[in-house]
Amino acid sequence: MTARSSLTVVLAAGEGTRMRSSLPKVLHPVANQSLLAHVLRAAPAGPGSRLAVVIGPDHQAVADEARKIRADVETFVQSERLGTAHAVLAAREAIARGADDLLVAFGDTPLISAETFERLRAPPKNGAALTVLGFRAADPTGYGRLLMQGDRLVAIREHADASAEERKVTLCNAGVMAFDGKTALKILDKIGNANSKGEYYLVDAVTIARDMGLEAVVIETNEDEVRGINTKAQLAEAEGVMQARLRKVAMEAGVTLIAPETIFLAADTAFGKDVTIEPFVVIGPGVSIGDGAVIHSFSHIVQSTIGKNASVGPYARLRPGATLGDSVHIGNFVEIKASVLEAGAKANHLSYIGDAEVGANTNIGAGTITCNYDGFFKHKTIIGTGAFVGTNSSLVAPVKIGAGAYIGSGSVITKDVPDDAMAVERSQQSTREGGAKRYREIKMKQKNKQL
Ligand code: UD1
Ligand code: CA
Repeated sequence: MTARSSLTVVLAAGEGTRMRSSLPKVLHPVANQSLLAHVLRAAPAGPGSRLAVVIGPDHQAVADEARKIRADVETFVQSERLGTAHAVLAAREAIARGADDLLVAFGDTPLISAETFERLRAPPKNGAALTVLGFRAADPTGYGRLLMQGDRLVAIREHADASAEERKVTLCNAGVMAFDGKTALKILDKIGNANSKGEYYLVDAVTIARDMGLEAVVIETNEDEVRGINTKAQLAEAEGVMQARLRKVAMEAGVTLIAPETIFLAADTAFGKDVTIEPFVVIGPGVSIGDGAVIHSFSHIVQSTIGKNASVGPYARLRPGATLGDSVHIGNFVEIKASVLEAGAKANHLSYIGDAEVGANTNIGAGTITCNYDGFFKHKTIIGTGAFVGTNSSLVAPVKIGAGAYIGSGSVITKDVPDDAMAVERSQQSTREGGAKRYREIKMKQKNKQL
């Protein structure tokens, strides 16, 4: 760690027109977190580290997101989008307050790591006025090219302004830079807009620093870390890179992923020991999975806690607030929402359990529904320990089923059932001897007449 103070300015004022979306570009998600959240989480944090985000004029939602991630963030509005250097200067007030290192990052490069920010901060310590993060692009089209003389960086040329010869250069500008705080403003104030787009280009800082007799250097990283997201196709590529990272981390922690490329994880998934995840499982944010649990194929899980040795799926859906105790079994086509199922409870087939408490070792029969919504309000269903709810029962909430109670199949339960009681709610069965045979004969006669 460095003892130097820092200000990180994250640029997020672009319109993101190429995303063709009404959502601001930096709020699009990768691994269930906004692009901006990924960048802000990687930026230097802790004592001596300040953070500023530059947002567009109508992007209050971007400011709100930034504050959610880092409460101490300052936001600045760039009222006209006149280029990346102009955007940095929207945060002039924060820059003028001074910091040893001024770091600039883009809100649309979500795969950047905290280590890379740290690496960028080494050259300023040794006197470099400007440190640029570079990468070798497989296809450099659209990126600014780093023009070198030996190992000296002399200029960055934007794609639109580059000559045919310069376009052959594959070493590109990632967009992340570290300025020495002492000279940063002097350099930034000299940037003009004499280029094909008439924009104030941050990349011009390199030539200006050179002309001032200051040093500009490059630090390289791999392309995956600095993919800039301008289109939906690039968003999908970044998701792919992020998912590959998450799967690798999960497997390194001992999770068995049977077909990793088919399993989608969130950045915050917490795994116990010896967890197995079968192919085609989607795990959203806020999920924790206990030791020895098995998630069977085609399950979809969000904001849920799964106990030790529990079994979920195939085809289970756990919605926010599903809390499963140890050894709970949730089978196919069972949906659980905002409900606690105590240890050993089972709902193995075709059920909806919402706003419920289910006691330990209770068995919920196939097709059971907790009717939690009356069209206006949500109500709770409380089921005691060791109860047995027969197949195809409707439990109309608010309702309580006592411990050890037994509900006959097909019942519509609207009144509380005491402990150890048996409740059956259905009409009497009538059976007529020979009735089916007589019915068949009458119908056959009618049919034969018509032929
Ligand atoms: C930029 C770089 C390019 C680099 C590439 C890496 C410049 C001039 N170009 O190009 O050298 O290879 O990123 O991905 O710096 N923004 C504002 N206000 C503005 C303009 C942009 O806040 O007026 C923000 C955008 O929201 C975005 C970032 O700055 O987060 C980069 O802007 P973008 O238009 O995406 O630049 P690129 O053309 O990708
Ligand atoms: Ca970009």
